[in-house]
Amino acid sequence: MHGSDPRNVWDPAWRQAVLIADSNTDRLFGARVAAQLAERAKVLRMTIPAGESGKSREQKGRVEDAMIAAGIDRSACVVALGGGVVLDLAGFVAATYMRGIAHINIATTLLAQVDAAIGGKTAINTPAGKNLIGAFHQPRAVLLDGEALASLGDHELRNGLAEAIKHAVLFDRTLFETIEAWAASRVSLRPAREVVARCVAIKADVVARDERDGGVRHVLNHGHTVAHAIELATEHAVPHGQAVAMGMIVESRLAMQAGSYPAEDLARLGALLDALGLPTAAACSFDDALPFFARDKKTEDAAIRCALPARIGHIAPEPDGSWLRTVDIAALRRAWCAA
Ligand SMILES: NC(=O)c1ccc[n+]([C@@H]2O[C@H](COP(=O)([O-])OP(=O)(O)OC[C@H]3O[C@@H](n4cnc5c(N)ncnc54)[C@H](O)[C@@H]3O)[C@@H](O)[C@H]2O)c1
Repeated sequence: MHGSDPRNVWDPAWRQAVLIADSNTDRLFGARVAAQLAERAKVLRMTIPAGESGKSREQKGRVEDAMIAAGIDRSACVVALGGGVVLDLAGFVAATYMRGIAHINIATTLLAQVDAAIGGKTAINTPAGKNLIGAFHQPRAVLLDGEALASLGDHELRNGLAEAIKHAVLFDRTLFETIEAWAASRVSLRPAREVVARCVAIKADVVARDERDGGVRHVLNHGHTVAHAIELATEHAVPHGQAVAMGMIVESRLAMQAGSYPAEDLARLGALLDALGLPTAAACSFDDALPFFARDKKTEDAAIRCALPARIGHIAPEPDGSWLRTVDIAALRRAWCAA
């Protein structure tokens, strides 16, 4: 993992390193990263369970208690080694430990590389919902390594590809066309380094314009209003990337039916998702999903809100200046059922 060697970004002021991985990333990369860190600092190595259950209050408390017991102080840097789950949990630990210490992200899934590692959102889940408790806490460095993706299964690669396509749909038609051409001739689901790099640049640019998620950053939720409702309605039987693919289709169709999105672009989006093995029809009925829109963080005063691009590669503010459109339930139902 040369490209993700934390020695390259280590601040000599960090005298302790708290390496947090999950059971998979610890097994795959933990020993090597711990050895690299040991050349710079005293290392505390911790593992959380793999999967969403790792992002819990219990795990956060367990990690913090171990840090206190080990005498970790403000001179420490938390090193998060994993996918979005580890990065979100470890970042939140760093945000609150002794009122905030440094952290760096070593992203090992495609989804984390194109999305979760960048932007400083950290969170844990509670039984009431995902990411309900968290903080903004920017990592001091984000390290990505294409080689790490070699051990990632197609299922996880598809989750990341859905978010990469979302970035392209929102901001970069050329990137969309690059992914289209690659999808037509690909030999694996690992995208080119240039595609990952472009996604990183897009996300970093949005975050730089709106770090605290009060304006343009809302657009990164394209597809997610529908996706979150599907995930909740199916009790997470539908993985996030698949739900985002379904969500992008339903939300784009809603815009198309409202006359604000080209039918041709909807067809192209569907064809690309299909070529990559991502679904294009909602996995549950609209009526099953409807109660769960109320739990979405974008819902305000019971109004369902979606980020809707104008065409592939371009999103503009709504007439009221916001980046989310309040959508009519009947219109959403029509878009949902039209597959
Ligand atoms: N903070 C943000 O801005 C942000 C953005 C998007 C998503 N997220 C969060 O990210 C999480 C999802 O992230 P994810 O998709 O990376 O899931 P994940 O972290 O659960 O990783 C998926 C699986 O892949 C394994 N894994 C990780 N790296 C591997 C590798 N190189 N080789 C083989 N296996 C590997 C993990 O152990 C896990 O089993 C969600 O909790 C979501 O809420 C956060």
